[in-house]
Amino acid sequence: MENNRRDWLKKISVGVVGLGLVPFETFALPTDHFPEKESKDTPVRLSSNENPYGPSKAAKTAMIESITLSNRYGWELSSELVNLLGVKNKVNLNNILISAGSTEILDLVSQFAALQKGNLVIADPSYGYWTDTAEKLGLTKIKVPLTADKKIDLPKMLSSITADTKLVYICNPNNPTGTICERNDLIQFISQASKNSIVLVDEAYIDFTDQESVSHLVLENKNVIIAKTFSKVYGLAGARIGYAIANSSTIEKLSELQTWANGAVSVVSTAAAIASLKDENFVNETKALNQKTRDYTIAELEKLNISCIHSNSNFIYFSLKNYKKDFFHQLEVNNIIGTKIYEEEGKWSRITIGKKEEMQKFIASLQ
Ligand SMILES: Cc1ncc(COP(=O)(O)O)c(C=O)c1O
Repeated sequence: MENNRRDWLKKISVGVVGLGLVPFETFALPTDHFPEKESKDTPVRLSSNENPYGPSKAAKTAMIESITLSNRYGWELSSELVNLLGVKNKVNLNNILISAGSTEILDLVSQFAALQKGNLVIADPSYGYWTDTAEKLGLTKIKVPLTADKKIDLPKMLSSITADTKLVYICNPNNPTGTICERNDLIQFISQASKNSIVLVDEAYIDFTDQESVSHLVLENKNVIIAKTFSKVYGLAGARIGYAIANSSTIEKLSELQTWANGAVSVVSTAAAIASLKDENFVNETKALNQKTRDYTIAELEKLNISCIHSNSNFIYFSLKNYKKDFFHQLEVNNIIGTKIYEEEGKWSRITIGKKEEMQKFIASLQ
């Protein structure tokens, strides 16, 4: 039943041109998963928490128009983006570092933390793919179980920190559970946890909530790094653009590990990000549609005896303990791509919120 990510990638990488093994659930889909036009045979992708509505029209126009700039390096555009991100996050220009997706930030922070050997502390389950790389760099992993209601257990995370802890990772909202830390509790936690180690706060999904970022902390605290992405609410997963927010001295140290600071992103993706930041309507529409479709999906799953954790994101964590059919078989025969079992006990899995008609298909496949 378990859909093991690496085994699965190995199986399908045969059909992947030039991608090979990549550190992500569904990056390595064969290119025929992206047909020009959707047909009834197009799989419903509910596996990687992508935005089914994006990119926004403004981003698409900017991408098309910026193609002609591709013969030049994009210094001016990346400076413009850094400016906009500084304003948006109420920090200064030297608090921002642009990257090829937030994955590059997670990797850079791992490299930075691993300069001195030690351990990293992470909730379990959480978004942990990048920690395989961190382990190879020499950081051992301390996993801290979630609370019974699938929240990150901040007191337990704090008490798990040792003298050798170099990095503490908080995914807020947490992937795969969709739970969120109460903001004041998180701020308290960071002030303690960052005394002797870096605290990396991954805000990939915070745009789906009404909670404010903790970005203001970086102005005073050198040990807080925030990872942000354009892959989720902005619908630019394939464009590969993200960024870090951190204290200027920390940004300087991180960028020493990037031969060309801010240089990993194409002008096309940078132009898309700039246009996306100016298109608040798209973000608001995405949020509203996601919320409505999420409510619908949770109500329907509960009718099928599948209990769900309250979600603050664009995915739902649910237990298959009381579901009698073979969930993954039902998905497979209906051409729907889901994820895996995250916790054997309780048979917890996750589904991304797609468009309403995709979720109707998902629900029908389980009935
Ligand atoms: C919590 C979290 N962080 C980071 C990422 C990486 O995203 P990207 O590299 O596309 O920004 C993901 C992707 O699903 C994620 O769920």
